[in-house]
Amino acid sequence: MLALIAGSCNASVAPPVEPNLGIVPAPANVERLGGYFLLNKATVIEASGYDAIHCATLLNDYLGKAYGITLQVKNESSIPPRAHVIRFDLRANTSPPEGYSLQSSHNGVTIVSNDGAGLFYGLQSLMQMTDAAFKPPVQGVPIQVELPCANIQDAPRFPYRGLHLDCGRHFFPVAFIKTYLDLMARYKLNTFHWHLTEDQGWRIEIKRYPLLTSVGSIRSQTVTGHEGGSNQYDGKSYGGFYTQDEIRDIVEYARLRYITVIPEIEMPGHSLAALTAYPYLGCTGGPYAVATHWGVFPDVFCPSGDSTFAFLENVLTELMQLFPSHYIHIGGDECPKIRWEHDPRDIALMKSLGDTSADQLQSYFIGRIEKFLNDHGRDIIGWDEILEGGLAPNATVMSWRGEAGGIAAVKLHHKVIMTPGNWLYFDRGQGIPANEPLNIGGYLPLSKVYSYDPVPAVLPDSEKQYILGAQANVWSEYMASPEKAEYMILPRMLALAEIDWTPLEKKDYGDFLARLPAQLSWMDQQGYFFRIPEPLGLSDSLTTQDRILVKLTPPLPGTRMYYSLDSAATVSSTLYTSPVLLTLQANRPDTLHVVEVSPAGNTSVDYHAVFMRKEVLKPKPGARPATGLNLKGHRDTIRVSLKRHRVHPGPDGKELAKVNSLGMAGKIRPLQPT
Ligand code: ACM
Repeated sequence: MLALIAGSCNASVAPPVEPNLGIVPAPANVERLGGYFLLNKATVIEASGYDAIHCATLLNDYLGKAYGITLQVKNESSIPPRAHVIRFDLRANTSPPEGYSLQSSHNGVTIVSNDGAGLFYGLQSLMQMTDAAFKPPVQGVPIQVELPCANIQDAPRFPYRGLHLDCGRHFFPVAFIKTYLDLMARYKLNTFHWHLTEDQGWRIEIKRYPLLTSVGSIRSQTVTGHEGGSNQYDGKSYGGFYTQDEIRDIVEYARLRYITVIPEIEMPGHSLAALTAYPYLGCTGGPYAVATHWGVFPDVFCPSGDSTFAFLENVLTELMQLFPSHYIHIGGDECPKIRWEHDPRDIALMKSLGDTSADQLQSYFIGRIEKFLNDHGRDIIGWDEILEGGLAPNATVMSWRGEAGGIAAVKLHHKVIMTPGNWLYFDRGQGIPANEPLNIGGYLPLSKVYSYDPVPAVLPDSEKQYILGAQANVWSEYMASPEKAEYMILPRMLALAEIDWTPLEKKDYGDFLARLPAQLSWMDQQGYFFRIPEPLGLSDSLTTQDRILVKLTPPLPGTRMYYSLDSAATVSSTLYTSPVLLTLQANRPDTLHVVEVSPAGNTSVDYHAVFMRKEVLKPKPGARPATGLNLKGHRDTIRVSLKRHRVHPGPDGKELAKVNSLGMAGKIRPLQPT
């Protein structure tokens, strides 16, 4: 049967639309042609030159792991006649930067790009198409994968597509950093912002200052639970740092995946670990202690006297030897000025500079560091506080406290990377706060991440070019393990990838959701810890009927769902096998709880929805909103109020209910028939 469908790549027999061939981020242009290419162990890879051979090697690694096959790699002149070929072709002037074209026909697949990154991204698309086409091998049948025939023309929307990781609050081992980079590469993110120093730990070996790691990487203990909560501590010393050899290894690992690593050395704030190692760097002279809880601390690098700058310049000199990135991130956020305001040396410095505020002293600080780095051929990135007191001349601004800082920097014709907390802080919760594992707070579901556009509508066309792209930030106060960090980024980083890559006019959340299950299945098979989205069909409902049939669909194939009524579900609850009939009492909410277990054993948190029968619901057409049910996610409780629920007749005379569901836009949906 496979032989029958192979060999016809005919645009006139286009099959039903497969949304973007399952690829995330959605390519700029996909034209699905009829027919399939059969990839099997007789397929040959054509590659010559460094980048193409690199892609060939990665493709073979992938095929080896997924199917146990390794393809022969040949150059053009040694390809046998009639061979089916996957061709990597680096050719000048064929695509925009990092772009590629991918053509699959019944004879093979050709990926063409201008640059190594583009070839690599074509390879990512090919591997995702292959994942989507995966069918379990049949005993006795040679392994083959049916790849759909298609033309893809693709290039990123933004040159900067970033993901950050805070290794200061918690230390993540080298193996996990590589996992992180692998995930980034799969989803075509190209910049890893590596946050290496914090109040709670200095994580990078600097040979000239050994105490930074022997003292500054270790805290005596760590607060448990939420900051400001019970104020309990675990009593366990905590530490970790990356040696320079490990850093070189990671930078090279990233380079092979076309990812630039931008290191961040925080200054002048968030520097308590450095001060603990070398107390002369602070205004009071110490003693200091590496922070054991989260927040913002008053002791920061002292700008007066040259010893602080000599120290930082020496650190940055070693840093530049390790990191070839054009940009060095120098922090600049959340720096209290209280010590400077009371230090006679700093006051004298301020006067000598003609400064009237400590913010200007911060600008002096950043400006001086910027000059040092510019003199060494690098540019700085700083958090948006570096605007306060005057922006350093060549600085790129990372806008995190909303978009205002970014917009202000664009108006000054500085480059900007958008990382606004409300959309792109992956330390925030992904669902109803009461359900999610410990996190910093907030409510940032996948849909909200997806909705973000890094180019603020207020910017005229002439200024849009200053927006380099978007980045999500992964602050690790409440991520003590790699598993937790994975949970917090997956699947939200897929939405980030689509924000950064896919043309705005092509973005479509429904289409993204259609591609998500296959991606989740891939994560599951690969052993990632990801947040399994809520079952489809589990949403708050108000009805006039006394019974409601709740039909649930798991968000990734093969997931088992266990449910219970009015108490949290566990894996010992009832296995969902068919729609659940709820009998509702008037004005009394019933809660259906569900946990999901993926095929690989990932278990979701307890998800729930409220169902209620309202006794009298006889709205007149056009009537003012009736009283009803309004559910609001509110940090750690769900408040149910009976005030603002609308019921109105639908076009076919059936009643429609609009329920505000947990901070998301209200949905109109038919009331369930009994
Ligand atoms: C930040 O979140 N303090 C940049």
